[in-house]
Amino acid sequence: MKNPPENWSRREFARTALLAGMAASAGACAPAVGGQQMARRRIRTGVIGCGSVSHSYLPVLTSGPYVEVVSLCDIRPERARAQAERFAVSNHYPHIDAMLAGEPFDFLVNLTDMQEHEHLNRSGLAAGKHVWSEKPIANSLAAGQELLAAAQAKRLRLWGAPITVQCPQFAFMARRLNEGALGRVAAAHADYGHEGPGWSAFFYEKGGGSMPDLAVYNMTTLTGLLGPVKYVTAMLSIVTPQRTIDEKGTIEVTEEDNAMVLMDHGNGVISHVQSGFNYFNPHGHDGTGEQRHTISIVGTDGFMGMVGYDWAPQGVDLATKEQPELARHVTDAQGYVWQQGAALAAECLVTGRELLVTPEHALHVLEIITAARSSSATGRRIALTSTFRWPIIT
Ligand SMILES: NC(=O)c1ccc[n+]([C@@H]2O[C@H](COP(=O)([O-])OP(=O)(O)OC[C@H]3O[C@@H](n4cnc5c(N)ncnc54)[C@H](O)[C@@H]3O)[C@@H](O)[C@H]2O)c1
Repeated sequence: MKNPPENWSRREFARTALLAGMAASAGACAPAVGGQQMARRRIRTGVIGCGSVSHSYLPVLTSGPYVEVVSLCDIRPERARAQAERFAVSNHYPHIDAMLAGEPFDFLVNLTDMQEHEHLNRSGLAAGKHVWSEKPIANSLAAGQELLAAAQAKRLRLWGAPITVQCPQFAFMARRLNEGALGRVAAAHADYGHEGPGWSAFFYEKGGGSMPDLAVYNMTTLTGLLGPVKYVTAMLSIVTPQRTIDEKGTIEVTEEDNAMVLMDHGNGVISHVQSGFNYFNPHGHDGTGEQRHTISIVGTDGFMGMVGYDWAPQGVDLATKEQPELARHVTDAQGYVWQQGAALAAECLVTGRELLVTPEHALHVLEIITAARSSSATGRRIALTSTFRWPIIT
């Protein structure tokens, strides 16, 4: 394909490429070229996992114009039944096999335990469903790449949370960096922590931990802004070896609950992410209370700090040599909410409007997490093999 004219935005280019690809494939969700006819279509959607995060996803999915939620599923059937009643969903199932064999649908939204995603995503793709997965898409880079290859072979789409690159504050920061507003970029820091979830044990078991639950947001944001990572060095620890979990009592913590990860982006740029389940944090899961810079980037000519969590930012502070006083920008979320990823993916399936979120980026972040585990276990600096399309500029 020829390069696009320089004044095209990446979004327009990606959209045109996607429409061309979809029209060529004439797949299940191929829109009429121009997208108008299909813009009113709703993607028949099945949601698996009716726990905590489903309370945030389902209101968005069931109120948006591009989704018809036809089925819910949970291995705790009472949860699927309760959410089906609350959100007026006609069908609910106690197992993925029953859901896949039941009411037909085209799009699987996976909101289950982190360690369950890989095999459920595989089952969904094998059954011909497009897939949106909460993080992580898989338990290892190799498995995630195999899922992506399987999706592409069947002309299906696969996406994974988080969607921090979709927010207007990210766009502002990416543009300033691309313009060179900070001069020669040197270093960045990001942190996210709270006292840890008390409702499910999987957060503390192998394959869980604070990195895939919390640092994943910061890693997505920093790699989105500074580019793919070449090397990772990390120290991980368990600060609280036993936890009390609702309905379960005392459990042993077997995955890190405290992570310090150094990332070498090449070209001299080094960043640092810290996450943990032992952080005093009066704001906890409430994004509105946090006012600190949880993402900060510094270069020879300027500083930028994202105000609040990167999954619910409240603005960006910028200081440069020309304007050394910190000035606040982009205080309007412009409709962005962190839990809209699956709804945006459905919009993409219907209209062809492409997301900035890509599976390659999600898999790169997954490789950072597994490399951090390996670095901490061996004391070595780990070279990464994956990459993704960058910069992410709109
Ligand atoms: N809770 C949040 O605020 C939040 C926010 C953002 C992202 N997430 C992510 O969402 C995912 C789910 O987290 P949660 O907090 O909702 O956990 P949860 O334990 O509250 O819910 C998970 C649900 O999945 C069900 N489940 C597990 N395995 C299953 C299977 N094989 N088939 C069908 N159902 C299955 C469980 O029974 C449970 O009801 C995780 O990846 C988490 O990192 C959670």
